[in-house]
Amino acid sequence: MAAIFSKSSDLILKVVGAVVGLGAVSGIAAFAYLSYPTVIDIGYQPEQPVAYSHKLHAGELGMNCFYCHSTVYRGAFAAIPGTETCMGCHSQVRPASPRLEKVRNSYETGEPIHWLKIHDLPDYVFFNHRAHIGAGVSCVTCHGRVDQMVEVRQEKPLNMAWCVDCHRNPAPNIRPAALVTQLDWVPEGDPAEIGRKIIEEKKLNPPTNCSGCHR
Ligand code: HEC
Ligand code: HEC
Ligand code: HEC
Ligand code: HEC
Ligand code: HEC
Repeated sequence: MAAIFSKSSDLILKVVGAVVGLGAVSGIAAFAYLSYPTVIDIGYQPEQPVAYSHKLHAGELGMNCFYCHSTVYRGAFAAIPGTETCMGCHSQVRPASPRLEKVRNSYETGEPIHWLKIHDLPDYVFFNHRAHIGAGVSCVTCHGRVDQMVEVRQEKPLNMAWCVDCHRNPAPNIRPAALVTQLDWVPEGDPAEIGRKIIEEKKLNPPTNCSGCHR
């Protein structure tokens, strides 16, 4: 090694390294700036306080999304279920499991579990689950196969272009509203054709004007 990297070439390497390094740093900065706060959120998957698994509960046990996220229908928010929902089963199922200790503590003290929020739009954007669910846009379109995720991660950019792309041409992503939580649903026939019929029936008209999403 010493024969190949003489002192002078070592110096050259350091200089080259520094220049490349600087380039990389400004490149990363530029990338971070250009993609903030959009692209960078894809794949965001924080570790949660309790090792709750959607793959187990929504996938293997087949629980419907609305069992825990019923408020997506009623309000603008798709709230995270309270500890009572968990204890409805876990007072009997695995009642002594150490992995459920924080759930039991929360139930006893009334102190909610501090789940970390994964999908998060800036406050200046107006978003409403109910309008989308009612129109027949499935959870899978915006969140991916949550029923196969042990830990939820963000799959879609949730940026403006992504919202507007669908608002301009929603048909391929519209299904009968009763099927929105059936993440593995496979349309029989052309999905855009199915969507177009529903759009006509329900007279859907997603906003593409600025004030539709920035009120
Ligand atoms: C047994 C209750 C339960 C069921 C059933 C359930 N969830 Fe969840 N969900 C949770 C809990 C608890 C969290 C918060 C912890 C986490 O992120 O894993 C959560 C978080 C989420 C998040 C991330 C929220 C954020 O912070 O951005 C999404 C998206 C989600 N669920 C979608 C679904 C979908 C889609 C289904 C149906 C396939 C479903 N959930 C079924 C309990 C449930
Ligand atoms: C409809 C019943 C039901 C509900 C509601 C439910 N679970 Fe579960 N949960 C189960 C079953 C069944 C298992 C699997 C138990 C086994 O493997 O023997 C399980 C397993 C778990 C485990 C793994 C336990 C271990 O020892 O490995 C955790 C953690 C967990 N659930 C958290 C939650 C949380 C948090 C909630 C509320 C958001 C919740 N569960 C709601 C039925 C439920
Ligand atoms: C049109 C896209 C879209 C559809 C369809 C959709 N979501 Fe969401 N979801 C979002 C966005 C965007 C956010 C972030 C909202 C925010 O930060 O205000 C979000 C946030 C969430 C959250 C976190 C809590 C909250 O309200 O911020 C949960 C839980 C959730 N969604 C569950 C679901 C479930 C369950 C379904 C299907 C029944 C579903 N979502 C359908 C786009 C969607
Ligand atoms: C996959 C398709 C799709 C995506 C992605 C999508 N939308 Fe929509 N959006 C719709 C449809 C369909 C409607 C329903 C139009 C109707 O009811 O006439 C709608 C309606 C709306 C409305 C009107 C709701 C009301 O209560 O007035 C707003 C605001 C909106 N979307 C914001 C957003 C934002 C913000 C995003 C991105 C974070 C987004 N949408 C992503 C399809 C989509
Ligand atoms: C369908 C919903 C929707 C419509 C319509 C829409 N926006 Fe946005 N807009 C968003 C979302 C979502 C974001 C947040 C982007 C992010 O977090 O990366 C955003 C972000 C922005 C920002 C912040 C800068 C940026 O790019 O991140 C500006 C400025 C903006 N929008 C202006 C407009 C203008 C002007 C129009 C009309 C021509 C418009 N928007 C129409 C959803 C929409």
